[in-house]
Amino acid sequence: MPCYSRLDVMTAAAANSNPHTGSLLSIQDLSLDTISSLLALANTLEAEPHRDRMRRLDGRKVALLFYESSTRTRTSFELAAKSLGAMTTLVSDKSSSIEKGESLHDTGVTLRALGAECIILRSNFSGAPELLARCTGLPVLNAGDGMHEHPSQALLDLRTMLKRLRINEALHDKTLSDVTVVITGDVRHSRVARSNAMLLPRLGARVLLCGPPNLLPDQALSLPHVEIVRDFDAALRQANVAMMLRIQRERLAGLDIDAGEYIDGYQLNAARLAAHAPSALVMHPGPMVRGLEIDSACADGPQSAIEDQVTHGLYTRMALLVRALTPEVQP
Ligand code: CP
Repeated sequence: MPCYSRLDVMTAAAANSNPHTGSLLSIQDLSLDTISSLLALANTLEAEPHRDRMRRLDGRKVALLFYESSTRTRTSFELAAKSLGAMTTLVSDKSSSIEKGESLHDTGVTLRALGAECIILRSNFSGAPELLARCTGLPVLNAGDGMHEHPSQALLDLRTMLKRLRINEALHDKTLSDVTVVITGDVRHSRVARSNAMLLPRLGARVLLCGPPNLLPDQALSLPHVEIVRDFDAALRQANVAMMLRIQRERLAGLDIDAGEYIDGYQLNAARLAAHAPSALVMHPGPMVRGLEIDSACADGPQSAIEDQVTHGLYTRMALLVRALTPEVQP
């Protein structure tokens, strides 16, 4: 287990404790049955009258602990919790004692002492959600940890694909057997790519990872049914879903990317989409850098599901919060 700050140590007690079963630390924690139930619960919550929904987590306390910036994940978890009647508090590294050097362990224990019943954590350290779950014993929802995982994003992406591709059958290992998902861009640094590449093949999908060599992993993440394709146009010709990724400048660590070359080789633009994937669904987890990995015609065009992804995030995260805080409701 790595060290998260100069003050972070995993106590023996924490190392020996299991994370709360309502936690979501990795997409691999969830069986297909559980994912199926979570998506069904998201549908129920979406259809439920506001008054009934507000009773689900009435008065429960949810802490949002964000060590990295976020718009979609933070806001959707916060609105999801509030839509279920819960109280929320936001702790960010910019305005809390984290800035003074307080460790993740001490921050988590402090939130627990203040009555937090669930912590949603975004951290730049891979594995931090697991550490927090073990230290606090609370359900912890991983809102993105370093270059490791973004499991709630993979769930909302799955919900988006199923709805937009009109796949209504129950989830099993062949549900997406006719679907090829091309994930293009800065795959090497992307927790979204990793969580999707771990989830989608379990449902039978082919996943093609595409991008310049220095932004791709050396191997196809060592995952089954995941391949690396260097030629974006060739990959697009096979795509039912074109999932674009931002170049994560904050994680490049000295790598130099020539924007012109990148655009020539890997930008999803109107001409490329029309020529190679005229019926593929266009997805992007956000934030987008328009004009670099994607142009506005694709981002805002009829094939785009990018706004849908954000909306699906709200209901997917409601379902995760209900699972975390009401174990009697079995997703
Ligand atoms: N997709 C995603 O994680 O976006 P944010 O960084 O805005 O939360």
